[in-house]
Amino acid sequence: MYGMVNKAVEQMVCTHYGESVWEEIKARAGVDVDVFMSNEPYPDQMTFALVAAASDVLKLPTDKVLEAFGEHWVLHTARDGYGGLMDAAGRSLPEFLNNLPNFHSRVAMIFPKLEPPRFECTDVTATSLKLHYRTHREGLAPFVVGLMQGLGKMFSTPVTVRLVQSRDDGADHDVFDVSWSPARVA
Ligand code: HEM
Repeated sequence: MYGMVNKAVEQMVCTHYGESVWEEIKARAGVDVDVFMSNEPYPDQMTFALVAAASDVLKLPTDKVLEAFGEHWVLHTARDGYGGLMDAAGRSLPEFLNNLPNFHSRVAMIFPKLEPPRFECTDVTATSLKLHYRTHREGLAPFVVGLMQGLGKMFSTPVTVRLVQSRDDGADHDVFDVSWSPARVA
């Protein structure tokens, strides 16, 4: 994955726990990189090792690290670094979710070697939808849960996310039930 992902993990850890904890996590993961280059690809294995080491050092389950990372990704990494792209994708949670299937095709213009997730929305109602998530990577469903929670916060729209079909149970892809409170009429 592109270095911006590892950099974002670093930023999240340093903000909440400080630089020395981050150094401990890197050492435990066997990662000997001083500065990650945002626009250079690194092996996926490196990112997974950092997340596993963060889970050990912070004494948090991997799922919780990934959820926190998803929220951080939306509220800081994407918001601060790519505000234009985020704004263009929608002015409300449902609008943003409906545009999510096309979102990374724009990101791929900046990062040509991107191996993006694939999203699809079905069963769309005014206050819910089913989000289908496909990827060749393993174990990232909790990251998607955190991303949804981050989007809920970004749009000040309380959101509930439930994994209703899981690759862990043999399905070919994950499906989330995402629901939110109706927008208040101004
Ligand atoms: C402008 C904001 C964003 C940028 C620049 C961005 C960029 C990236 C990059 C570089 C990766 C790593 C994949 C690779 O390097 O091959 C990635 C992965 C991912 N992104 Fe985004 N992204 C953004 C917003 C979002 C949003 C809003 C969502 C969903 C709500 C999302 C969902 C994901 C997921 C789930 C992955 C994990 C990869 C996988 O599932 O295989 N991203 N993104």
